[in-house]
Amino acid sequence: MAINDAFLSELKMRTDIMDLVSSYVSLDSRRQGRTHKGLCPFHNEKTPSFMVYEDTQSFYCFGCGAGGDAITFTMKIENLDYIEAVKLLAERAGMQLPQDGYDDSLHQKKNRILAANREAARFFYSCLLDEKNSHALKYFLNRGLTPQTIKHFGLGYAPDSWDSLIKHMRSKGFSVNELYEADLVKKSTKNGERFYDNFRNRMMTPIIDIRGNVIGFGGRVLDDSKPKYVNTADTLVYKKSHEVFAMNYAKNSKEDFFIVAEGYMDVIALHQAGFTNAVACLGTALTQEQARLMKRYTDEVVLSYDSDEAGQKATKRAMQIFSDSGIKVRVLQLRGGKDPDEIIKKHGKERFKSLLDGAENDIEFNLIKIGEKYDISVSDGKMSFLKEAAAFLAELSSPIERETYCLKLASMTEVPADAIRQEMKRHLGAVRKKAKKELFNHARNISNGTEDKINPDKKLYPKQAKAEEIILTSLFRNPDFYRKLKDDLTPDLFFTSFNKRVLAVLLDLLENGRDLEMYSFREKFSPDEIGRITYLSDIFNEISDTLEECRECIEMLKKAKDKKSVNEVSAMSDEDFANMFKNIKK
Ligand code: UTP
Ligand code: MN
Repeated sequence: MAINDAFLSELKMRTDIMDLVSSYVSLDSRRQGRTHKGLCPFHNEKTPSFMVYEDTQSFYCFGCGAGGDAITFTMKIENLDYIEAVKLLAERAGMQLPQDGYDDSLHQKKNRILAANREAARFFYSCLLDEKNSHALKYFLNRGLTPQTIKHFGLGYAPDSWDSLIKHMRSKGFSVNELYEADLVKKSTKNGERFYDNFRNRMMTPIIDIRGNVIGFGGRVLDDSKPKYVNTADTLVYKKSHEVFAMNYAKNSKEDFFIVAEGYMDVIALHQAGFTNAVACLGTALTQEQARLMKRYTDEVVLSYDSDEAGQKATKRAMQIFSDSGIKVRVLQLRGGKDPDEIIKKHGKERFKSLLDGAENDIEFNLIKIGEKYDISVSDGKMSFLKEAAAFLAELSSPIERETYCLKLASMTEVPADAIRQEMKRHLGAVRKKAKKELFNHARNISNGTEDKINPDKKLYPKQAKAEEIILTSLFRNPDFYRKLKDDLTPDLFFTSFNKRVLAVLLDLLENGRDLEMYSFREKFSPDEIGRITYLSDIFNEISDTLEECRECIEMLKKAKDKKSVNEVSAMSDEDFANMFKNIKK
């Protein structure tokens, strides 16, 4: 069952897509007025190809094909399912969601997982305080954690047992399947199905999202055994590549930057020392999604990864991702310890503070790293260095920064600043050209179907797909065509499966005289697919908007169908052919 149309119409009326999108993306208003342009929040780009259309209340990105209405936007940017997005928008619009009449089984399932996680966190905490497990508490205290910190982060202890969590959770009314969905238990299929606790004899760190939900756990051994961490796998409520540890606290810190560390233990130690703006990724390398989440709260981070080789490698990767997301990066060089936790323990928080203040900005860091590659005392080396350094500076978005470092570079290498500016300009021209070409390729790929992930059949039937799209777009824009075309139009006429699905829904809506609103499609299409439907309904412009054109396309598809069935017959094996013949005779 869907949420009723009346409610959705009102929600739509009360939600302005411009208002909504501008709270996440800064939009330039173009002179034409009702179309707005900005950097796409769904992929990394330097030149804006993300459009918001006031007239149709929709958005579309020419770079990545994301598109849709306010609900799709909310689903994608907040990583929510449909009902959750509607709820959030309803709250924003001051509306009350109807109590029943919609299917929220997925939502309820998620709520059960969250409830299970919360209860498990309570259980682990109480086990930590249990005298039986005093060795665990001792471990925490030995690591310098205070009781307040333990409580603040909700740290706990998972007992050394195969079923103590299962037993506890059962007594609280959770089914073993729910625990399995939460990844709190694992399943063994040897000698019949059997469930056992996922976390055993581990120090437990709950992972809490920005809404305060316990979405997963990191479980560390109490000694040097392996594996060091067991982490919650991805579940319906937890996608580790999208979440940032301690963000729930760091987002409220009064500092206007985040400290990004490698480990849970570093973050916990940093918060205890007063650096409440520290966060970490969760057992993965930094992802674009995590960078984008941070970008909502800040424009600057200080990377404070471990000083070992792996940490330095990760630093370079993270720098790239942050700068692609428009976040300024400074890099803290850890001296006197391998990670922030150790430095604070050995030398105190003042030492960390001074390292923090001395963190080089990413431009200096990069120039130093580029410089290390070349021997600047010989002219060949100097040339190569300047070329690479100029290319790097050219891509900085701030003209002041570009000029500042250009002058520095000039005095460092004794090369006229103008020569460096020339080189920067040359490089920038090439970059812009490339970006333009990519945009063009995207439009072309959608139009001819190469590498089309949404409608992979398009590659097999490019001409047919084009005809299908013309029909779909014509119907979206001219619903009155439906009456005149309906006798010739069935989904079977279409060749490509995605377009076939769109047509089926479209015909159903038109037959029942319903509005062709994007939300009618949402039940049957993923947010990415909604992007394509937005393209077809709002963006695609290679049509003449006439009945004649639609009729031609239908004729073309019919002819192609006939031909296809002839070809299919000739591609049959002799045996299949004989069978078909028998069936016909019958
Ligand atoms: P570290 O080994 O630095 O762990 O890994 P740590 O949390 O700082 O622990 P201490 O200081 O040695 O006690 C950094 C992060 O990498 C992930 C965890 O998120 C960890 O916090 N990791 C590490 C895993 O997910 N699995 C592992 O086996 C190891
Ligand atoms: Mn560590």
